[in-house]
Amino acid sequence: MSRSAHPAGPRHADVLPEGHYSAPAADLNVLDPKVWAQTVERDADGVVTVGGMTVTQLAEEYGTPAYVLDEADFRARARAWRTAFGNDADVFYAGKAFLSRAVVRWLAEEGLNLDVCSGGELATALSAGMPADRIAFHGNNKSPEEIERAVRADVGRIVLDSFQEIVRVAHIAQSLGKRQRVQIRITVGVEAHTHEFIATAHEDQKFGIPLAGGQAAEAVRRALQLDGLEVIGIHSHIGSQIFDMSGFEVAAHRVVGLLKDIRDEHGVELPEIDLGGGLGIAYTSDDDPREPHEIAKALTEIVTRECEGARLRTPRISVEPGRAIVGPTAFTLYEVGTVKPLDGLRTYVSVDGGMSDNIRTALYDAEYSVALVSRTSDAQPMLVRVVGKHCESGDIVVKDAFLPGDLAPGDLIAVPATGAYCRSMASNYNHVLRPPVVAVRDGEARVIVRRETEEDLLRLDVG
Ligand code: LLP
Repeated sequence: MSRSAHPAGPRHADVLPEGHYSAPAADLNVLDPKVWAQTVERDADGVVTVGGMTVTQLAEEYGTPAYVLDEADFRARARAWRTAFGNDADVFYAGKAFLSRAVVRWLAEEGLNLDVCSGGELATALSAGMPADRIAFHGNNKSPEEIERAVRADVGRIVLDSFQEIVRVAHIAQSLGKRQRVQIRITVGVEAHTHEFIATAHEDQKFGIPLAGGQAAEAVRRALQLDGLEVIGIHSHIGSQIFDMSGFEVAAHRVVGLLKDIRDEHGVELPEIDLGGGLGIAYTSDDDPREPHEIAKALTEIVTRECEGARLRTPRISVEPGRAIVGPTAFTLYEVGTVKPLDGLRTYVSVDGGMSDNIRTALYDAEYSVALVSRTSDAQPMLVRVVGKHCESGDIVVKDAFLPGDLAPGDLIAVPATGAYCRSMASNYNHVLRPPVVAVRDGEARVIVRRETEEDLLRLDVG
């Protein structure tokens, strides 16, 4: 990063990066089903509807910005994952992508399990009635209190992330007179091709115990000796927003190698292997994600083949998709506040939210799509940058996109594929209030997480 001053100019405002799509879609009114929730369409007046509700109705009733979540789509995707893996595998929805009590109930009804990674997520899961034996508890630094709550609740598994934690969980379980089912999270040395901050299985990072240098084998050795633990398997999560299955292939190969070593050394065949989450979704029309049944088939084949090669019984597989289930099911609905053309560069479109409801663009350089949803337009496309209302020039929601040239204050625009890691990573920066999550289904809308109020803010500020 440059620390010296330089003349302002295209250096900060470089127009479209090389290789980026440079032409607008043929018709900006068309909504690409790849990036929009399943029930999204335009009605006869050109207004976008979802779950049978128009965005204008939703904006009127619930205000903007708002995350609008298509419940039928969520359930359909959850079911598709469940069905794809069948009865010989388990699907754990990764709650970090987005968690609320309604979501927990949908998951429980659709037969999925749940991965939580904090006391708060655990509390949400339990309070909405997810059976504890269907919960996996994750995290690289679970507090003793969190561990105790999880053990007392009888969660189905705790995923151990360090040598200290092996001892900590064993001790707590034993002192409660329990034997806790655990998996051991290892890093297999795979670098999934994704943003550095969301790639997790290369070795130079905080998660898991490295396979390298025999550390993972040593962790298993120690865990097997502790009475408070029942070691049920090995866990590997290689990163997020991954399209290429080859990373999973290498990971499975290495995990199975460890299972074989464990069998040879201890005479124990661990019954489970978890390959984590990380499957990519389409944020723009350029992305081509795989369907759950293709992923299930590929992962099952890889593990089965590897186990046959190692003469091991094929363990029960589990996966932890978060983004791939919830990501495509929601869009963020904004009202346009200002439209500012900058000659020769682009037009800045300011909306009533921003980096507080979607930090992913600023944090990961994430790409998003955007559409005018309160009407159609035949105006010429204009190159826009959709920005928020925060006091920061990096407050960008959509970096490069096209919207109709007659876009005006008061229009509603929507950014699709914001179901994952947007509400769950939302902040109160600038004391902006976090938007509600409104679930729509069959012509009805229901607030599942309400809008934050100034009262909420002031309640925490005890003066
Ligand atoms: N399992 C484990 C152990 C994880 O750490 C994660 C994500 C998942 C499953 C779910 O991954 P998914 O299927 O949702 O990609 N905030 C970042 C993503 C961080 C992911 C952290 N762990 C983002 O907005 O892209």
